[in-house]
Amino acid sequence: MKVPFFSISKNRNNVQPPLFAQLLNLADTTRQHPLELTNGNNEGGIGLTWHRITDLNRSGMPEMKLLETDIYGKKIGLLKRGDHIYAFAAKCPHAGARMCDGWLDAQGRIVCPDHKYRFDPANGRNTSGEGYKLFTYPVDIREDEIWVGLMSTN
Ligand code: FES
Repeated sequence: MKVPFFSISKNRNNVQPPLFAQLLNLADTTRQHPLELTNGNNEGGIGLTWHRITDLNRSGMPEMKLLETDIYGKKIGLLKRGDHIYAFAAKCPHAGARMCDGWLDAQGRIVCPDHKYRFDPANGRNTSGEGYKLFTYPVDIREDEIWVGLMSTN
């Protein structure tokens, strides 16, 4: 049986946090998504399928604005904050409010419109402390195209 070789793709700063930190989602939030594990050719990942966002590209995406798109009917939230683009679940993990109807606080965290819980778009952490987690997706920028990785179970 051939065992595939997996490696972590390069992040923007060419500095890698430890693998265990990435997998536990403890890595620096400015670095890549912990699911960005590739099979060496950067074409796929562990259980990931990459999808190009067809209605947006990086240069045309407004800064600090919550947007919603869909991939084959699956709603995905998108945010461009500084040099990074983040993808996250379109519905709040608390009671299902539409996250893109919310707003950003001064630190660039998403505030849910219904009960005002706050989430870091980089890792989904519930920074207001209620114990929920917003699901996030890995994002890869190829030229000017935005690609989002969905796990086969997503
Ligand atoms: S539905 Fe989002 S905080 Fe309650």
